[in-house]
Amino acid sequence: MFTDMACFSAFVLPIWLLTKRRRNQREKGTKVKRVALANMPPLVNDLILRAARGEHVERPPVWMMRQAGRYLPEFRAKRLQTDFFTMCRTPTLACEVTLQPLERFPGLDALIIFSDILVIPQAMGMEVLMVKGKGPVFPAPLRDPDTDFAKLILEPDIDAELGYVFDAINVTRIQARGRVPLIGFTGAPWTLMAYMIEGGGSRTLHNAKRWLYTYPDLSRKLLEAITRIAIEYLVKQVQSGAQMLQVFESWAGELDTDCFRKFSLPYLTQIAKETKAKLSSIGLSVPITIFAKGANHALEDLSYSGYDVIGVDWVIDPKEARRCVGDRVTLQGNLDPGAMYAPKNVLKEKVADMIQNFGVQKYIVNLGWGMQPFMTPTMAGTFIDAVHEAVSRNE
Ligand code: CP3
Repeated sequence: MFTDMACFSAFVLPIWLLTKRRRNQREKGTKVKRVALANMPPLVNDLILRAARGEHVERPPVWMMRQAGRYLPEFRAKRLQTDFFTMCRTPTLACEVTLQPLERFPGLDALIIFSDILVIPQAMGMEVLMVKGKGPVFPAPLRDPDTDFAKLILEPDIDAELGYVFDAINVTRIQARGRVPLIGFTGAPWTLMAYMIEGGGSRTLHNAKRWLYTYPDLSRKLLEAITRIAIEYLVKQVQSGAQMLQVFESWAGELDTDCFRKFSLPYLTQIAKETKAKLSSIGLSVPITIFAKGANHALEDLSYSGYDVIGVDWVIDPKEARRCVGDRVTLQGNLDPGAMYAPKNVLKEKVADMIQNFGVQKYIVNLGWGMQPFMTPTMAGTFIDAVHEAVSRNE
């Protein structure tokens, strides 16, 4: 009897547990048969890729951060039926909402895959919920540096945990039928770390700041782990079909210049350089954008950090932004999102002035931050039309 039990726990149990784990990973992983990059529909409009690479363009390309979102009634209708992260995890649904803005506005020059930056903390073992009226909530944020940090999965199996994003990208690339390029993205290490510690949005980031100043070494460990994950995640997005990438350091502006140089910039630089090197070793190359919101003080440093495009928020003058980065990179931005609420003629004038100030070359038109739920499709349409009209007016 004892030997039977010993045999069971020594051999049968581990094998059963192992196959169960594999089964779970498969269930979480690939569900659709992926199409190889070589068999993707040819790209018709490559304006944004040319602008990002600094090549000549006839007019600046335009897209909007958070263009797939609640300002669209067709998005809200889908969201009523499904929880936010279930939408992210269902490739057909993620594909459908990614395409919604392009179906409505054929004047757009890019799609961005519907997902969220917080899927990385989820892959690291943290629970994240999207709560109506509140935004993202972590029921158990990182608070205690010993016990909570030890629970984190620092080297998750990216295919098993985030395979649904790669599936969504692959399906969307096909369904986009080459109309415009598809952008993949990741959250940047500091922004993700801050969310993981705060457990959601915060005005002060006091928990994250306390952690950063009190446990700098542990903070670096966490930032390094997120950096490694982000690099593998971005490379795999390109292998699945993403034609351009963007890194969101949304909380860059919460760091002072010294902390930005210590806790953000090195990781952003590593992400750009290693992602490019890894892609190049497998014969792939895509432009990468950094959007470090609020870090206008660091534009010059960022222009040497390996990115092709730098996104800028609306509190910097376009000419000043260009002066900081020289001709090393393409700039993206930076309409005050609030200008979307202006009367039509005022909005159009703002867009025309902005293009005049950035110039047509090495420039991608966007907002200085994302679309907001109170905006309307009409506002988005006016914004996009204004870009097309401003350029024909300048000709
Ligand atoms: O259209 C797109 O831009 C693609 C999809 C996308 C979403 N989130 C969908 C989303 C992208 C690129 C993001 C990035 C993201 N997510 C960032 C970086 C960009 C930024 O805004 O600074 C951040 C900080 C998050 C975390 C996050 N997700 C927050 C703070 C919120 C709540 C705020 C809000 O707008 O509601 C979300 C939710 C979210 N992500 C929504 C969408 C469409 C709305 C949620 C819903 O439908 O309930």
